[in-house]
Amino acid sequence: MDNTLFGIENLDVYLVLGILAFFGLMEMLAGYLKRTNRTSGDWIQEAGGFFMLSVVIKPLIVFSAFTIGGLLFPQYQNILSEWSVGLVLISYLLIDDLMQYWYHRSAHEYEFLWKLHRPHHQAEEMGFFISYRNAALYYLMMPNIWWIAFVVFLGGAKAVVIGLILKQLVIIGSHSTIKWDSFLYKHKIFNPLMSVLERIIITPAFHHAHHGKSMQDSISDPNGNFGNMFSIWDQIFGTAKYTRKFPTDYGIMNDPKEHWTAAYFYPLVAADDPKSEISRGYQKNSTATPEPIFVELEKGEKYLWCQCGKSKNQPFCDGTHHGSKFKPLLFESKKTGKVKLCNCKITKKGPFCDNSHLDLLK
Ligand code: FES
Repeated sequence: MDNTLFGIENLDVYLVLGILAFFGLMEMLAGYLKRTNRTSGDWIQEAGGFFMLSVVIKPLIVFSAFTIGGLLFPQYQNILSEWSVGLVLISYLLIDDLMQYWYHRSAHEYEFLWKLHRPHHQAEEMGFFISYRNAALYYLMMPNIWWIAFVVFLGGAKAVVIGLILKQLVIIGSHSTIKWDSFLYKHKIFNPLMSVLERIIITPAFHHAHHGKSMQDSISDPNGNFGNMFSIWDQIFGTAKYTRKFPTDYGIMNDPKEHWTAAYFYPLVAADDPKSEISRGYQKNSTATPEPIFVELEKGEKYLWCQCGKSKNQPFCDGTHHGSKFKPLLFESKKTGKVKLCNCKITKKGPFCDNSHLDLLK
């Protein structure tokens, strides 16, 4: 396996560590360590996740891919070594990122995968290290880590080395509190550049919106912006939300914090708190009712109407929809006073009741 680049073996490892160190140092110089409310559990989860991914999970996947490849299709080993590195790089990166888009999106839309991915969203502060807080099983099943290993088996190690460096630069940069794009957004001269760039790669503003706690701020969309390196997939599949502002609140709504061991080792370790969705026996039950609910609204205020029908704070969203294909509907009240909001969730005029519930009562 030839993974030398510019005569240096394992250049990707040094450069990825260098990228992490660079963003970490910049965050420190910007006073992050003084402002942070991170607990020791957060640090353990992120540093431990990084260590486990680099030292245990990735080598295990590479070993498994080489074993499987050697047994099933030994004739293809190193077949890509004849190809140009540029061609392998483009093909590998596009396939890698498309797979990661769908894996990440599925982790928001399917309950089991969501439980493996939610530690990543429990971080209430952004930072260079939070890319590494997911359950161990999330990484073990990540299709693009397997893809990387197979590309190396096929002889594309050089392209993988370059791709990993570029990808980590974008991913760590989009999670960091060093928002390199906000400087460029502020100056009109960079507008044309940013308009093109944000349509190609993931910028901090684009990804921070994905980590925002609630759509209520009109900036965040925790159920959108799933891309990792390229934003083209979100545009193609209709999940892109462009913003040049940053959320003030990050994390998950109504999130009971679990011990990091439960978050990292789920489903082997369950949370003690019965309110946690990774505790044993936790269920999300329907709270939709055939009748509408009357609520007092304030003119000009923004509200999130629950569309999944499982909120414990009906008719409003409380975040229970995570791990499903639903997301709340953001609306601004046009008047102050009592309003009849739908709670059967089959209205065609959401969030308002259009008497569709009468069909249910027939
Ligand atoms: S709880 Fe958010 S949409 Fe139902």
